[in-house]
Amino acid sequence: MRATGIALLSLGLAVSALPAAAEGGPAPAPNGIRLPADYKDWRLISPSYRTDKNHVRAILGNDTAIQAARAGKTLPWPDGTVLAKLVWKEAPHERFPAALEPGEFVHVEIMVRDNKRYAATGGWGYARWLGKDLKPYGKDAGFAQECHACHTLVQDTDHEFTRPVSLP
Ligand code: HEC
Repeated sequence: MRATGIALLSLGLAVSALPAAAEGGPAPAPNGIRLPADYKDWRLISPSYRTDKNHVRAILGNDTAIQAARAGKTLPWPDGTVLAKLVWKEAPHERFPAALEPGEFVHVEIMVRDNKRYAATGGWGYARWLGKDLKPYGKDAGFAQECHACHTLVQDTDHEFTRPVSLP
């Protein structure tokens, strides 16, 4: 009993003593936003393709986003929504070059809905990590103004370009 207690206590200490770096994942963006550890497991909101950059993209959503998308309640997206955009250079399929596939990884970026915290940028917190080593983008927290400025083009769809893909 006593041994179990000690074991549990030391486990507790070990967990609480974990430094921030041991949370894993890349360094936070200059505005303090972290890349959610489970983003790779999120579900699809929509694919997209940029003809000016020849990039293949996948836009994924966390559970809150997926629930809102399925319920058709995305104008506005609810608090707690996180959308992630994963970007790759296009690459022809080795065996069937007419098919374009995701090639080299370019970046991942996210938008976090928190109306209070990010009131200055339309209720969305922005962050981006570049390349395979996921280097945080932006010199200081002001980088989000650049994101917000372009996303203001679609203010009428809650600053989101992507609409959930239509499914049968
Ligand atoms: C010059 C315009 C422009 C700028 C600047 C920009 N975006 Fe976007 N963003 C877009 C467009 C267009 C899309 C639509 C999907 C695509 O790119 O294929 C998009 C999509 C997104 C998405 C997926 C959800 C959605 O709205 O469609 C996220 C997340 C995102 N951008 C984050 C960011 C972040 C973070 C920054 C700043 C570091 C940023 N964006 C800067 C134009 C821009």
